[in-house]
Parts: sequence; C-alpha cells; structure tokens
Amino acid sequence: MNILLLGSGGREHALAWKMSQSSLLTKLFIAPGNTGTALCGTNVNIAATDFESIKKFCIDNAIEIVVVGPEEPLVKGIYDFFKEDVSVNHIPVIGPSKKGAQLEGSKAFAKAFMEKHHIPSAGYREFDESNYEEGVAYLQAHSLPIVLKADGLAAGKGVIICQNYIEAVAEFELMIQQSKFGDASKKVVVEEFLSGIEMSVFVLTDGVNYVILPEAKDYKRIGEGDKGLNTGGMGAISPVPFADEAFMQKIIAQVVEPTIKGIREDKLEYAGFIFIGIIKVGEEPFVIEYNCRMGDPETEVVMPRLRNDLVALFKAVTTQKLDEVNIETDPRSAATVVAVSGGYPGEYEKGKPIEGLDLIQEEETIVFHAGTKQEGETIVTAGGRVLAVTSLGNTLQKSVEKSMAILEVIEFDGMHFRKDIGYEFY
Ligand code: AMP
Ligand code: GLY
Repeated sequence: MNILLLGSGGREHALAWKMSQSSLLTKLFIAPGNTGTALCGTNVNIAATDFESIKKFCIDNAIEIVVVGPEEPLVKGIYDFFKEDVSVNHIPVIGPSKKGAQLEGSKAFAKAFMEKHHIPSAGYREFDESNYEEGVAYLQAHSLPIVLKADGLAAGKGVIICQNYIEAVAEFELMIQQSKFGDASKKVVVEEFLSGIEMSVFVLTDGVNYVILPEAKDYKRIGEGDKGLNTGGMGAISPVPFADEAFMQKIIAQVVEPTIKGIREDKLEYAGFIFIGIIKVGEEPFVIEYNCRMGDPETEVVMPRLRNDLVALFKAVTTQKLDEVNIETDPRSAATVVAVSGGYPGEYEKGKPIEGLDLIQEEETIVFHAGTKQEGETIVTAGGRVLAVTSLGNTLQKSVEKSMAILEVIEFDGMHFRKDIGYEFY
C-alpha cells in the first residue's frame, strides 16, 4: 500500500518508524515530515493543512490511505474534504470527521457529549459574552481551585487552574472579553478541579469496533518533580504502573465503551485514534479530555511496545474489521526522554548542530526526531522539542536510565532534558 502520513513531530517519526516495518507497505510519504521521518519514507514539502495540495499529491502518487498525525487538519475537516470530493473519496483518512474532531476541538462539545453519555468527568458550566455576568457570580460561588478552559484549540495552553477568586475572575475576563486565546476563548468551560494522578489511554476505532493500544503517562512540565511551565511534553512512560488490570477494566466499562457507543449514537463518523486523558481520583477514572489523535510524546513509547503491524491495523480500520484484531504488546517497559532547546518553552534559538547521533548503536534505543532539520551534512535543531529518545528495558527504571545514557552522548548548544521521567514509580 502507498500511505501518506501528515505531520512533522516526534509522534510522526514514531508512526512512520512503525509503518516502515510493515510488509504491507509499498511507499510511505510524510508531509511535511522531519529529518527522522526521512529515514522511514519520503518527505514531501506540503503543509498538513494544505488540503488542495494533499489531494493532488494523493492522486498523483496513488495513495491508498492518509494517516493524520496532528489535530489541526482533523479539526479543520480533512476527513470531510476527502469524503466530499469524487476524485479522492475512495481514499480513506485515518481520523475522525470534522464533527467527531470536535471532541478535541471544542471543550464544551466534549463536556456535553460526556454528560449525555454518562461518562465520568468533572462538573462544569459554559459561559460566553451572553452570560458573562452570570459566569462571574458562578466563579465567586465556586469551590477552589477553579479550572478555566478555553473552548477551542489553544496549542495546549488554554487550561488555567486558578487558586483564588481574584485570579479566576481576571482570567475569565481576559479569556472572554480580551480574547486571550483569540476565538478559542470566546467561550469558556468552568470546571471542578479533580485531584489525582493522570494517564493516557489510546483507542483505535473503526466507528463500530475498537482496540486499546498500550497506555502511557506523559510528563508535561519543564522542570524536575513536575515543576515550572507547561510544555508539549518532556517524556513519557509505558506501561503505567498504577494502570493495573482492575483499573483498566473500569476505564473500559465506564469510559471507553460509552464513548464508542456515544460516537455511534450521535453519528459522529469516527475512524481513527481517540486519546483519552484520564485522571484517577481515589480508585475511579474520570475523563480530563479527549484528543482526536495520538499523543506526543506518548506515541514514542506506545509504538515501540506495539507488536501488531500498524499498517494492518489501519487497513482493519478502513474495512471495519477491528473486531478481528488482537493487540499484542511487548512486555518490556518503554520510556522516552525529550531533549529540548535552551529556553523552551519560552524563546529559544534554532539551527544548533546536533552532535553524536551517528554514535548510537544501542539495540533497545530509538532516537525519534521532533524538531530537527538537515543542513548540508549536518542535522540541526529546528524546534523547541528536538529529539525524543526511547528505550526499552525490563524495568521502567532501566528504560529511563538507558535513554539518559544515550542523551549523554548527544549534544547541542543549550540542550536540556529532565532526569526524573517516571520518578513517582521507583
Ligand atoms: P486539558 O488541555 O484539558 O488536557 O488540560 C490540561 C491539563 O490541565 C491536564 O492534563 C490536567 O493536568 C489539568 N486539568 C485539566 N482539567 C482538570 C481538572 N478538572 N482538574 C484538575 N486538573 C485538570
Ligand atoms: N502529550 C499530550 C498531548 O499530546 O496532547
């Protein structure tokens, strides 16, 4: 099969790496890709949201499946774009319809979906300009802390946890009246704060059947001990030690099954990944968020533990035969440690040469590229998150240690990485 993968981060390198191992694959193209994806297939210089160019490329190159990495093309409706155009409606897109992608694209949509289908989640109300004053009064009567969420996509920055009323009202005003996150915060979801430990569950559905991929936990803060600013993700582990059989069964019964049933009942047209952010409160799972794609850097630990052929899984999605698939998982632990540019998540410089990549020969380690670029003979930094180094090991600690040892060999000016990924568990 000829496959086109959209995206350019560590997640896409991990998906490309996994697909490139499939005997079903003929040609893999990645648009736009990065230096890492170029090792697994052919990069194509097309933006993941340039639907017209993507369509033309698919026709010219006999593409048989389009796999969408990031959320933006999905929320913008790439699925519907393909479906509605006779020249490409024979090419399946792995990912939900525009309406299905609202599970990620609109927090208010996701909350209403969860309420309707009795999926456990924090209590909430939604506000905009029309009921702004009511919102202020609601905040002042709310228990602390208060969680404010911009309704729309805000590059992972739209959630603010407020510890007092002054801050909550100020943020509320900034979001709704000063468009702090542009149109994304014209509407705000005000949510109860849940206290617990988080993890990510990955479901692949064909719209009727589903499979569950290895679970993971990511580390979002820049600093050790989960301190400091939020980032795109500084590391991830899989499996998650507290996600035992009993807890996973609860997640399946209380969250995954009703989600799939809800998607069908609401006719959301959804054939792709559902990433469910779960928080364990006491012994019970609650949904923090839905995403309509895989996580980054979670994919960099999920793919190395997945034993199934990923192209075969995608084929089963397109033929609605996921019920015939059994997911097989590598029993080893996987950890990924992300090397970021100095200054990230604030301002940082790009174009720093990366040394040591050619020295890595460790069998159980894979260096996934996130923000890298080829400049002549040299690979240079091209983003905040630069590399995600994944290792497999017999224990979580061993996998983390291996990745850190590799990161001692790699060097670029200003490089930073967390040395405590998985710290709560050993
Ligand atoms: P989201 O973009 O909805 O995933 O939120 C980003 C982060 O904010 C989550 O990963 C949680 O750490 C935190 N968060 C979101 N909602 C809540 C909540 N209701 N209670 C506690 N923490 C939350
Ligand atoms: N690692 C969190 C995300 O991909 O949204």
